[in-house]
Amino acid sequence: MEKRMRELEKLLTQYNYEYHVLDHPSVPDETYDKLFHELLHLEEQYPELKSDTSPTSRVGGVVLDKFEKVTHETPMLSLSNAFNEADLRAFNDRVERAVGKVEYMCELKIDGLAVSLLYQDGKFSQGATRGDGTVGENITDNLRTIRAIPLSTDLNAQFEVRGEAYMPKKAFETLNKRREENNEQVFQNPRNAAAGSLRQLNTKLTSERNLSIFLYGTPRADILGVTSQSEALDQLDKLGFKTNKERAVKEDIDGVIEYVNYWQEHRNELPYEIDGIVIKVNNIDLQEEIGYTVRSPKWAIAYKFPAEEAKTKIIDIELTVGRTGVITPTAILEPVRVAGTTVARASLHNHELIEEKDIRINDTVIIHKAGDIIPEVVRVVYEERTNQEVYKAPTQCPSCGHEAVKLDEEVAIRCINPKCPAQIVEDIIHFASRGAMNIDGLGEKFVHQLYDAKLISDVADLYTLKKEELIELDRVGDKKAENLLNAIEASKEAPLQKLLFGLGIRFLGQKASRLIAERFITMDNILSAEKDELMEVPEIGEVIADSVVTYTSNEDFIHLIEKLKSAGLNMTEEVEEQESTQFDGMTFVLTGKLEELTRKEAKEKIELNGGKVTGSVSKNTDVVVAGSDAGSKLDRARELEITVWSEADLLERLGE
Ligand code: IVH
Repeated sequence: MEKRMRELEKLLTQYNYEYHVLDHPSVPDETYDKLFHELLHLEEQYPELKSDTSPTSRVGGVVLDKFEKVTHETPMLSLSNAFNEADLRAFNDRVERAVGKVEYMCELKIDGLAVSLLYQDGKFSQGATRGDGTVGENITDNLRTIRAIPLSTDLNAQFEVRGEAYMPKKAFETLNKRREENNEQVFQNPRNAAAGSLRQLNTKLTSERNLSIFLYGTPRADILGVTSQSEALDQLDKLGFKTNKERAVKEDIDGVIEYVNYWQEHRNELPYEIDGIVIKVNNIDLQEEIGYTVRSPKWAIAYKFPAEEAKTKIIDIELTVGRTGVITPTAILEPVRVAGTTVARASLHNHELIEEKDIRINDTVIIHKAGDIIPEVVRVVYEERTNQEVYKAPTQCPSCGHEAVKLDEEVAIRCINPKCPAQIVEDIIHFASRGAMNIDGLGEKFVHQLYDAKLISDVADLYTLKKEELIELDRVGDKKAENLLNAIEASKEAPLQKLLFGLGIRFLGQKASRLIAERFITMDNILSAEKDELMEVPEIGEVIADSVVTYTSNEDFIHLIEKLKSAGLNMTEEVEEQESTQFDGMTFVLTGKLEELTRKEAKEKIELNGGKVTGSVSKNTDVVVAGSDAGSKLDRARELEITVWSEADLLERLGE
């Protein structure tokens, strides 16, 4: 039986590869399905004989409750951008100044989601998102469902490959059509759909989404035994990875520019979306010589295609009132396709801009997507104008009818009524948001519903909500009410910095809120702080200090704080005392596996002693702390002759 199972695995893996990687199946679907079911059946009968790289493991079915964090061995950097020929030539000049004339590898820039795949002893062992470049999320079980990812390969080593997971255009259209039919929200573009699919906690859903992947490199080309990017891609092909065949080595920047122009014209013919061309110095030794900035390699650049434009008509101009009273105009458009999605609204930013461009309702306009995402009106097609009326900026708030004014030196028009319902609702939405009090389940719609039902009129009212009131609301059952109340209860413990940020003091962002909370420790101290005391906090300038004092001397604000206090909210910040200054001014990099400390702990301890921890090794690094299995960072540290400590060295200095 075991023999037959191994045979079936081998056949299915081969057929799978032909279909999903080579795009060239050698057997009809029925043959595959028949063998697949035979294997599935045998695995049910003999579970102990099931292999962990079995093709049947691709159907998903693992249900996670959250994604674990993983730290990338080598940071996943991003690329700097070029937007025109001049940028490309400037890039080439920089490269040539560093290392002389070079050959370039040109690759399509796939519009998907960067992922890292780890293989151990030839088996796919871990897959992760890019995250912030240093720490990503473990999405191994989701990635396993992508048929184009080999579960095993012939390279019997520990290595990492990186690439772009994406959703083909066809799969995207089918998915959105089905979602529309089921009254579910459609995805804006294939990239969002791919990202959403890979972050499904139930991997069965991921498996049904028809995702694919193109691998474009490895941080350790030495393991593949290659000396150039083109060889690396060829080698990845040989190992069974799917790479993009549309790639070309160009001898000079003129060749690169020709290539870029070709794809700008032909991008829409591809069965997947690309948003540009990635250009890399082909020779890997030269890449290392050219080096890196903290964010990106200096040996590569992403050429971004200009935004596509489309012509449509403005049906109406809608006004919305934001948290600070700013009245923002939005153009309601006759729906039109542009850069892969249907657009029905476009931001007009402010009323001055409408006047400047002389935009009027019923005008024909050209729109594009800024950064390929946010629709904007580029210009009016005046030739097609008939007798449209000049658009007049509002003089009244569309929400409360109060006078709307233009303050000195501002382009915005504002409603200055502090009791304006639209502003109050936005305030509460902000208070509940992720960066502030993080009240799960209390989104925009729910806040509107609570406000309209007169259950809340400020953020403090959230803390006196009762289950009986909630379940009276439309589409709110026992469960939803309980979840909300639990989330509200939990938010009482939020640190002072979150509360301070959540109160929506003008100009006070997340970082400034943290700095102020850490300095003043309690809300009472903040309430009694003078402007110059606030300005003693690093990074707090006059504008923020003035704004804070304006709020903290306002009676309504003080009253609100009293209400929150009586509701039992935490009003203090816990700060860890600095332990020593022994690492003052020193920059550390952590690499490899630490035994005693987690990375986070090590980082905290270094910071508590005055040091700074960064993600990549450069000549500015003072110490590299290397755990076991340290890889390229350690190599680089040796190359740059940087001090290397073991974890024990670090602990000893910390006195532990
Ligand atoms: S190389 C050091 N090659 O574009 C960065 N990136 O900011 C190495 N991307 O999210 C990236 N296609 O995932 C490279 N052929 C390609 C790519 C590609 C798409 C994405 C990448 C990253 C972004 C670069």
